[in-house]
Amino acid sequence: MKILVTGGAGFIGSNFLLTSVRERPECHFVNVDVLTYAANLANLEAIARSPNYEFCRTDITDPAAVLEVFARVKPDLVFHFAAESHVDRSIVGPSAFVQTNVVGTFNLLEAARRLDKAVHFHHVSTDEVYGSLGAEGLFTETTAYDPSSPYSASKAASDHLVRAYHRTYGLPVRVTNCSNNYGPYQFPEKLIPLMIKNALAGKPLPIYGKGENIRDWLYVEDHCSAIWAVHERGKLGETYNIGGNNELTNIALVKTLCTILAEVTGKPESDYTGLITYVKDRPGHDMRYAIDATKLKTDCGWSPAETVHSGLRKTVEWYVQNQAWVESITSGQYQSWIETNYSQR
Ligand code: NAD
Ligand code: TYD
Repeated sequence: MKILVTGGAGFIGSNFLLTSVRERPECHFVNVDVLTYAANLANLEAIARSPNYEFCRTDITDPAAVLEVFARVKPDLVFHFAAESHVDRSIVGPSAFVQTNVVGTFNLLEAARRLDKAVHFHHVSTDEVYGSLGAEGLFTETTAYDPSSPYSASKAASDHLVRAYHRTYGLPVRVTNCSNNYGPYQFPEKLIPLMIKNALAGKPLPIYGKGENIRDWLYVEDHCSAIWAVHERGKLGETYNIGGNNELTNIALVKTLCTILAEVTGKPESDYTGLITYVKDRPGHDMRYAIDATKLKTDCGWSPAETVHSGLRKTVEWYVQNQAWVESITSGQYQSWIETNYSQR
């Protein structure tokens, strides 16, 4: 089976490829990624020379380049991860979000439907398309879309395009909407890696507003196993929510991180909690996300392997042991390496 993975050099895509390439030697994986600031090919060093893996530097916003890759690879299956993914960046500069998330997804769908074979298209999306919850209730697959940020609006648009290609052209699609992920290789602008990075450097831990916003956290490998479960046991044309019932307020999460950091580094917890700083809130900040993953569990037999405590412990240990990775991806050093070693095709 030939599998095209878009955005495979980013956070979730890297984790997905690192396990999938090794565990599925019968599949050939082609990683299509333009290598933005969030990407790091060094993540994939362990599989880079595997006979069932290749990398192809391609911008999904370029329709001709996308058609060329599809014509060459003739994929049986696409896992579409590539996106601009950070809400704060979408507030400052929404244009790239519309280009990559909406136009890029459209280009992939067009290339898939034009190939003279059935290309299964798995669209990786977010629970943020549903907007914000109050104190009660959970997002189900039938919750109305109500996105708040340019990021979530662009993902919502791409979800609609994917479903429209199923209804209109019969493209065999599946859509998954997942809650907030965390784990190794996440760019340290998102809450968890940013807090760990700043705590280790003795810098302030900025909490937006009162820190009472709630997110439903899932360890990245659990997201990856859910994607395979949906591919193998989910129905075509269907949507599945992915989440592990791990709701936490941001302030509770950051305090938990401080506790784990103290355990891992042997320093007093107050060295870290003392860095907590309340800052101006994010505009359009969704109050609460929480996923009802009953459909995924019932139809696909999936359940998460990690609790929030075991997953956070693994994550803190990884960031403590990989401070050179954080330094290289945040200093621009890694982007220079990309430009020297890879020319865009
Ligand atoms: P990321 O920002 O870490 O990685 C995105 C990857 O896409 C990068 O490797 C980047 O180079 C690539 N990319 C960006 N623009 C591209 C373009 N024009 N052409 C080709 N490649 C391009 O993102 P992530 O956190 O790994 O998220 C992956 C997917 O999962 C996204 O679609 C996101 O919406 C979705 N998602 C993320 C989360 C989360 O918590 N991170 C939760 C639910 C869903
Ligand atoms: P983030 O990791 O950006 O994910 P998302 O906005 O997609 O949920 O943020 C998670 C939560 O943490 C969100 O409620 C915003 C908050 N947050 C902070 O309080 N401080 C920060 O520095 C960041 C990046 C996020």
